Amino acid sequence: MILIKLGGSIITNKEKPLSPRKTTIEKISKNLRKISEPIIVVHGGGSYGHYWSVKYDMHTKEKKYDANGVSIVKNSMIDLNKLILNSFQSNKLNPYCLPPTDFMMGNKPIIKKIKEIKKIAQSELTPVTYGDALWFGSNKTYILSGDKIMTHLAKILKPRLCIFALNEDGLYSDLKSKKLIKVIDNQKVKISENKMDVTGGMTRKVEEAKKISNFGVNVFFVNGNKPERIVKAVKNREFQGTLFRGKKNG
Ligand code: IPE
Repeated sequence: MILIKLGGSIITNKEKPLSPRKTTIEKISKNLRKISEPIIVVHGGGSYGHYWSVKYDMHTKEKKYDANGVSIVKNSMIDLNKLILNSFQSNKLNPYCLPPTDFMMGNKPIIKKIKEIKKIAQSELTPVTYGDALWFGSNKTYILSGDKIMTHLAKILKPRLCIFALNEDGLYSDLKSKKLIKVIDNQKVKISENKMDVTGGMTRKVEEAKKISNFGVNVFFVNGNKPERIVKAVKNREFQGTLFRGKKNG
């Protein structure tokens, strides 16, 4: 089984509020259709969820946020999710929409529900979930990122591979020269923000990738604009991007 995160920067234009990248979404769907192994898809918020959460000053910290903001973020994620679902549907991926409220209780994953997602993926359906604003309890809510969802799912389901589709070729050792880091062996390489010279958003992804590889799962950062690379990684184990090797005995 394979987990795939479609980053917000790949499915939307992050520079412009509420702007989906429909051609890219369609290209991704067409390529995912070529994968015969069960997949679970998680997508980010991009210029939908992120745009509104910035506007309403909402973060990952559990707090009492503006109710109107919570509602707007949630609705916007449904709008974006619908675009993904429609594209998946027309490309015969049989999407099965799972808002994160379906498998999260507060900030904890519901293990039984998550195990069920694997069963759904093993049928003819493609489970699709997304980062969202979630109820925490005691009038508090929080933003659950799609990257965190990947970690929750990987920890419980131990997929063969986790793929993060980004708007870059992978991780660069130096942002100016764009020198790509091909393999990161978690046991040997200590990843620090300065050393890797990455952006804030990328730092969070690297943190989750490190956690996931510690569970013994391989993590692959790939350019989502070249979705054929996703197919090659799954089918041919050809990794044109950055591969975080899962820790042995993880
Ligand atoms: C964000 O999910 C969800 C909301 C802001 C509601 P992600 O954090 O996974 O989104 P991207 O991939 O970075 O855009």
